[in-house]
Amino acid sequence: MNSILLLNGPNLNLLGTRQPEVYGAETLDMIQDGCVAYGKEKATEITCFQSNHEGALIDQIHAARGRHQGIILNAGAYTHSSIALMDAVFSVEIPTVEVHLSNIHAREDFRHRSYLARAAIGQICGFGSLGYYMAIDALVARFDQETVE
Ligand code: DQA
Repeated sequence: MNSILLLNGPNLNLLGTRQPEVYGAETLDMIQDGCVAYGKEKATEITCFQSNHEGALIDQIHAARGRHQGIILNAGAYTHSSIALMDAVFSVEIPTVEVHLSNIHAREDFRHRSYLARAAIGQICGFGSLGYYMAIDALVARFDQETVE
């Protein structure tokens, strides 16, 4: 069975109450439960982890090697600042989809730059929680493609 690591970074544990007009009304638990159920439909195991700490996220990315075939990463504000997280994604060579609930390109200038985008296979932003499901679809399609090749 294919396995995807779903990683969420700082402040995303507050979803539901954090600026719902920007990030939506769903809690992280609701999103994670939905993704696990959606993964089951696609014969894909989804392992969820959230941390407010950069190093803890990096440790999870390192530990994903040999365990997960794909990573979905919403690194929150670390997206715009963390060369270390970008390096971690480059290092493990696991296809990684960058996700943001909000459209970071329509927001403040400092959110337009993503270090992670250099290391990710693609970026999905602006679709709220739907973006996580789109990322699962993108990775599953890639797994299927690899099986055919
Ligand atoms: C975010 C966008 C980031 O700019 C912000 O710092 C977040 C959430 C999003 O999901 O839209 O924490 O990653």
